[in-house]
Amino acid sequence: MPTSKWRDDTLRPTAISAIGLRKAYGAEVALDGIDLRVPAGSVFALLGPNGAGKTTAVKILSTLITADAGDLRVGGHDLAVASQAARGTIGVTGQFSAVDGLITGEENMLLMADLCRLPRREGRRVTAELLERFDLTEAAKKPAQSYSGGMKRRLDLAMTLVGAPQIIFLDEPTTGLDPRSRHNMWQVIRGLVAEGATVFLTTQYLEEADELADRIAVLDDGRIAAEGTAEELKRLVPGGHVRLRFAAPTAYRSAAAALRDAAPDDEALTLRLPSDGSQRELRSILDRLDTVGIEADELTVHTPDLDDVFFALTDRGEPHRSHTSKETGR
Ligand SMILES: Nc1ncnc2c1ncn2[C@@H]1O[C@H](COP(=O)(O)OP(=O)(O)OP(=O)(O)O)[C@@H](O)[C@H]1O
Ligand SMILES: [Mg+2]
Repeated sequence: MPTSKWRDDTLRPTAISAIGLRKAYGAEVALDGIDLRVPAGSVFALLGPNGAGKTTAVKILSTLITADAGDLRVGGHDLAVASQAARGTIGVTGQFSAVDGLITGEENMLLMADLCRLPRREGRRVTAELLERFDLTEAAKKPAQSYSGGMKRRLDLAMTLVGAPQIIFLDEPTTGLDPRSRHNMWQVIRGLVAEGATVFLTTQYLEEADELADRIAVLDDGRIAAEGTAEELKRLVPGGHVRLRFAAPTAYRSAAAALRDAAPDDEALTLRLPSDGSQRELRSILDRLDTVGIEADELTVHTPDLDDVFFALTDRGEPHRSHTSKETGR
């Protein structure tokens, strides 16, 4: 069901669109015909596990490599016939740093200004402004290899912004950053969007997509498993639940017998019951345990979040079995 926000979004011009985007590396199909639409001035997050095809999508849409098939438009330009014009509207921060460690942060920036063909004086002005904005002025004259991971990531993004792109691709912009640096990066991204830029980012962090993105596509094995706002995606998965954990196998077995509607996890000695987490439901569950004289060693209430969506849609049956234990009929 489209939300009112989505109806608004359809009125906005499209910054990035892909229809039937396909790319294979030999026999390995990285993108199996995906469709995407990113309205101008919004943040779009492509979320997916390792190898899902995120970087491949970024590289294609930012004109670094070509697709095998698909109708692709970026900044109003058809990539099949006008990729050069599209390139003029975009900036890309790759998954792996483009920073040259042997030269200083400032020299990296000036090199980028040259690549963007900015006049020397303008290049110096933009460099000074961006270094200041990314809190790198103090470190500007030090070799970039002496920077911390977070500083390098900030320099990477500053370099991307030298050409004042309208459309910014960020491939895992916060991977490896500590929580404070991650929050700082989120602020920077929000600032860019407030100024009118369109941001297409990839991430493995559900929290990041939830925090930043207007729309999220979950990519799994080269296909879009789901697409929508964070709220729409959360509605796709079963509701909240209560998890009860028992230390003793005997208590666990008695509780499982008393709570027949619970999904058991025999290995973890936990029971999971669907619940909205309300006080009334919790009391009823505890009352039912009371009647058989058992106390749970741990009780956790879980309301659905993007993690549930992610694991439900990309579950390969490995570490998060309990998330689907009900569906698999255990
Ligand atoms: N240059 C290449 N040659 C051959 N196969 C490739 C190449 N680049 C990517 N692949 C394959 O394409 C698939 C998608 O890779 P991609 O790098 O797009 O995934 P990703 O979602 O960015 O993963 P990660 O989270 O690890 O960065 C993978 O199976 C990968 O092995
Ligand atoms: Mg990648």
